[in-house]
Amino acid sequence: MISEVMNETINININRVTNSRINQLREGEVIFGRLFSDHMFTADYENGVWSNLEVRPYGDLQLEPSCLVFHYGQAIFEGMKAYKSENGEVLLFRPFKNIERFNTSAKRMCMPEIPTDIFYEGLRELLNLDKEWIPSEDGHSLYIRPFMIATDEYLGVKPSEKYKFMIITSPVGQYYGKPVKVKVETKYSRAASGGTGYAKAAGNYAGALYPAKLAQEEGYDQLIWTDAKEHKYIEESGTMNVMFVIGNKLITPAVSETTLDGVTRSSVLTLAKDFGYEVEERAISVNEVIEAIQIGTLKEAFGTGTAATIAKISLINNEGIDYNLPEINSDSLSNKLLSSLGDIRRGKAEDIHNWVSRI
Ligand SMILES: Cc1ncc(COP(=O)(O)O)c(C=O)c1O
Repeated sequence: MISEVMNETINININRVTNSRINQLREGEVIFGRLFSDHMFTADYENGVWSNLEVRPYGDLQLEPSCLVFHYGQAIFEGMKAYKSENGEVLLFRPFKNIERFNTSAKRMCMPEIPTDIFYEGLRELLNLDKEWIPSEDGHSLYIRPFMIATDEYLGVKPSEKYKFMIITSPVGQYYGKPVKVKVETKYSRAASGGTGYAKAAGNYAGALYPAKLAQEEGYDQLIWTDAKEHKYIEESGTMNVMFVIGNKLITPAVSETTLDGVTRSSVLTLAKDFGYEVEERAISVNEVIEAIQIGTLKEAFGTGTAATIAKISLINNEGIDYNLPEINSDSLSNKLLSSLGDIRRGKAEDIHNWVSRI
């Protein structure tokens, strides 16, 4: 994989910090997304060309207040993780899926695509400098946040002609400490047909904050989004795709223009098939899930995503009623998936699907 994107002509300027902040990293005490590694990668787009490729100290940006991103939200991002293997190698999990999805988001938001080799080489140089920041504890990793913003100094509502692409990284531990309680959302919508739901566009996340806050005030951790038209069919949950084990089938909503096509989702479906599960990707209604809970055929429900990996769901609220899910035992599918994914990402298990890239 790596050789595919090596390009001799990529010239990245390296500007190292004089004093590392690595002593701020205390393993076992990391909070998701609060502490950032020493360096960041930046690149600028203007007149159809990406230039100023640089790995430089993490720090402030200088931008005019008129930059288009501050007004009309032309901004996209990705989320991926780097892991350290037992012998100290830096490993990435399916990074080319994220690069591809970043460019799908860029296209939808009228932004320029970033060439795979600029993205990958920038990330490689950044991780080479900051590899000490990758925690080695189980369940810990270095979260990678690539993003792009519109930087034209102009107040007209139109696509920007200038952009900044950046990658910052943050050491992280577990996202959810315990199983999550979710509420089925039947009033607000995250995405509608023809909209931007399949893109990792910043505005999608801003729009989801208010309904999620209302649910949190009622004691739930997250929402389960339903289709915008009828609020009948399940879409996804927070920043995760969602899956249900009913009988001995693993059932998940098919990816669509209103949901994000998760890298974890696709990996989990492959692993579940490897484990012998029948997998169904199709429309799944809230009623089907509630009925399965009531008659006892629903065994497990969980979310999948880069940040959380596998988040077990302990309770689903629908139309004012709390439904407790069965206790999960140690040989549950979610536990098997969690340990299998963890082992592949850390290079501890054989990578039969060729998912891991070594930096
Ligand atoms: C809305 C949404 N759905 C699902 C996911 C899960 O995708 P992935 O497994 O690629 O992290 C994410 C996270 O990126 C997300 O933001």
